[in-house]
Amino acid sequence: MEIVITPDADAASEVVAGVIVGVLDTRPAPVLGLATGSSPLAAYRRLIAAHVRGDLSFAHASAVLLDEYVGLTPGHPEAYRAFISRELVDHIDLPPERLFGPDVHADDLAEACRRYDQLIADLGGVDVQLLGIGSDGHVGFNEPGSSLASRTRIKTLTRATRADNARFFEDHEQEVPRHVVTQGLGTILEARHLVLVACGAGKAAPIAHAVEGPLTAMCPASILQLHPHATVVVDEPAAAELKLADYYREAFENKPRWQQL
Ligand code: GLP
Repeated sequence: MEIVITPDADAASEVVAGVIVGVLDTRPAPVLGLATGSSPLAAYRRLIAAHVRGDLSFAHASAVLLDEYVGLTPGHPEAYRAFISRELVDHIDLPPERLFGPDVHADDLAEACRRYDQLIADLGGVDVQLLGIGSDGHVGFNEPGSSLASRTRIKTLTRATRADNARFFEDHEQEVPRHVVTQGLGTILEARHLVLVACGAGKAAPIAHAVEGPLTAMCPASILQLHPHATVVVDEPAAAELKLADYYREAFENKPRWQQL
């Protein structure tokens, strides 16, 4: 696992956008794993800007959602498909029919979850999966206690996560769906590169648990420790509780030029 500590959130977004650009430049049919939440937004804005300048095309790419709410009306503005469309896909040349998500309106939700894992496999797997981290250490919507081998499935959100996400529902916690479908931890681990971005002091504790704590279902983001190619991009406030922060800085500053992220 590589920890990249940047001076601020803007620099973190530059690192994250750079990884996506690298995948788009080198893979013939790249598959991007897209996360919601506020953490990846600045990177999405950079990607849009690069596209608008004519420097970047997504025409050959596909994208898969990490998770989705269950129970919102189709087209609800806070559905994660709508969020990703609004924040990224509507502004780039990714063919809209190549933005995939789990069918949360299916009658047989368990079957829809199985189909989603199959779809990801049929696409050839995810080249780079962006991740944020919840205050309780969740990734996607894998709440504490999630099986480390879990597949895409329905989950129940914790009170804490519903309270955190109430800000997207005009602060009405009761409007935040109780149920979600999320790629499982086992599904996420199959992506070829995991890139987790976290900024701000509120992320310091979950980042320290995920990066330097034990591998445990109590901190689902700790699965990054199992992945052969995981990058954690944090700004200084989010890095504040990392015991080995100086080592991570030194390693990054002295990285051999040929070694990419
Ligand atoms: C939600 C999403 C996660 C995201 C988390 C953190 O729960 N399902 O994918 O990582 O929020 O969000 P933020 O980046 O806004 O702190």
